[in-house]
Amino acid sequence: MIQAGRGFGKTRSGAEAVSHYLHEHPGSRVALVGPTWRDVRDTMVEGESGLLAVMPQAAVSKWNASLGELVLANGSRCFAYAATQPDRLRGPQHHFAWGDEVAAWERPETWDQLLLGLRLGKNPQVVLTTTPKPRKLVRDIIKHPRCTVTKGSTYDNLDNLPPEFAAAVLEAYRGSRLGRQEIEGELLEDVEGALWTLDGISRDRVAAAPELRHVVVAIDPAGGGSDEVGIVAAGRDADGHAYVLADRSGRFHPEQWARRAIGLYHELEADRIVVERNYGGDMVNSTLRAVDTRLQIVEVVASRGKRVRAEPIATAYEQHKVHHVGVFEQLEEQMCTWTPDSGDSPDRMDALVWALTDVMQKGQGAAFMELWKGELAEDQRKREAGEISAPELAQLPRFQTFDRAKPRPGCQHRWLDGLCVHCGGAKELN
Ligand SMILES: Nc1ncnc2c1ncn2[C@@H]1O[C@H](COP(=O)(O)OP(=O)(O)O)[C@@H](O)[C@H]1O
Ligand SMILES: [Mg+2]
Repeated sequence: MIQAGRGFGKTRSGAEAVSHYLHEHPGSRVALVGPTWRDVRDTMVEGESGLLAVMPQAAVSKWNASLGELVLANGSRCFAYAATQPDRLRGPQHHFAWGDEVAAWERPETWDQLLLGLRLGKNPQVVLTTTPKPRKLVRDIIKHPRCTVTKGSTYDNLDNLPPEFAAAVLEAYRGSRLGRQEIEGELLEDVEGALWTLDGISRDRVAAAPELRHVVVAIDPAGGGSDEVGIVAAGRDADGHAYVLADRSGRFHPEQWARRAIGLYHELEADRIVVERNYGGDMVNSTLRAVDTRLQIVEVVASRGKRVRAEPIATAYEQHKVHHVGVFEQLEEQMCTWTPDSGDSPDRMDALVWALTDVMQKGQGAAFMELWKGELAEDQRKREAGEISAPELAQLPRFQTFDRAKPRPGCQHRWLDGLCVHCGGAKELN
């Protein structure tokens, strides 16, 4: 396994290894496995560091892109497989295999199927090339008694990288925890006490969302000086599953983030914008209205600790009810490193929690009830600890995010904890 940072030359090395093997072993069968079908075709075979670029032209007799079959002049064949379809590896046998970006393989069974079929010849081998990610599959492979790991960093290959590419990668990641992974190729440990793990998030990841009923864009405004503004969109399907659709967070001036969030709202034809009203008071609302007066805006108030807000959402992930549509690297990094003791306030994660709370409470009474129970439990704890008096408690804004909607006429209601799973309406207003 070559475990290295971006641009180290992983793909090139994998292609060179395959090319070398094919040259030395006429008539052999080689498996090429990438995260998706497209990755195998566009990167591993046709890419600038791929097989066709690396092999002598005369060695290749035919590349059939639609079948995913590369035929060599010496009778060898390479077969393309995608880690989204492990079943296609059930049956075929190979002498040699190359797997690229293993950390991004959606279905870990792909690895098991690949190994089961790797049984031709005297010494079947597999070359894996990847930027590491803290996923079980990567850890398992590294622990395999017959795995040899070679490590490397982006810096090792600076001479061969386009300066813009190198600058972009170094600029984005240098000095951060993610940089240890993306530049240095270091396998990061899970953070103890974090509410999410990358493995957990990845397990339920999907490539595309189904038809959604309720879509929101949530904004967590920057608290002070250099903070980012969290802008995250999510939606809910008919079965009450939530889908995280976009993370457009970043450092922006007020008008900039307002335009970004509103752009996303229109792009996704969202039902509403959820904003946290904490610091600036009316500022967030009026900044948005200054750009577009016709928005549906819901203000929420962080009346309770972040942990109390985040835990029911983390529970919904554990129940496999939340799916990320694609990869949101920086957001997921915040989710997997924040712990209730961190003290800091990761803005992307906050926006995510607001978006999902809104989405889940509309469709999923149960998840919202958990949130509510959590709030009550914290009230009671404060009361018992003497941190707050009864009159003060009564003054606290509660259920600010819980606006009860009238059930939609004509909906075939299905009630769950007093809310309709389909239209989100409250039973008592029926
Ligand atoms: N040994 C090498 N000599 C010359 N160029 C190289 C070498 N290794 C990699 N490169 C080039 O560096 C760039 C990045 O390599 P690539 O294999 O795509 O990196 P990675 O897969 O690690 O992100 C490509 O343009 C590739 O052709
Ligand atoms: Mg690569």
